[in-house]
Amino acid sequence: MERRKALKTVAVAALAVGGTALLADGHGKKNHDIPSKDGMNRVKMTPADPKNPTNYELKHMPEIKLGKTDKKGFTTVKITVGQNGIIHPSTADHWIDYIELWADNKLVGRTELLPVVSRGYDSYKVNIKGFKKLTAVAGCNLHGIWEDSITL
Ligand SMILES: [Fe+2]
Repeated sequence: MERRKALKTVAVAALAVGGTALLADGHGKKNHDIPSKDGMNRVKMTPADPKNPTNYELKHMPEIKLGKTDKKGFTTVKITVGQNGIIHPSTADHWIDYIELWADNKLVGRTELLPVVSRGYDSYKVNIKGFKKLTAVAGCNLHGIWEDSITL
């Protein structure tokens, strides 16, 4: 009798653990497919010394490079996160989740990025005539929001 009761207790405990595991798996898959906005670091960051950023800061700062201008007047604008060849990682728990490009105070475009399958890069075709400054903004889910600008 005691043995039967003990087996019953073990079986109930195993079901409880199994049920928890199933819930955890379902939650994890949902988060992997569509990253949750909860828990994202949305603090605006700036380098401590803008003239001499650290490698950590360079890794998060978007770099803007201008390419060719086509016959219609649209210039290729490439954005890479980060700078000086220090590329920000893209792993399941640490990635650049969005990039924006601004021309003066106008939002040119915004791209949201999935972890692992993409990294911090974007490009636009922009008619930059009449604008004075381009600003790229990049959000790291762990380390906040970073930006950098170029003068036109
Ligand atoms: Fe980061």
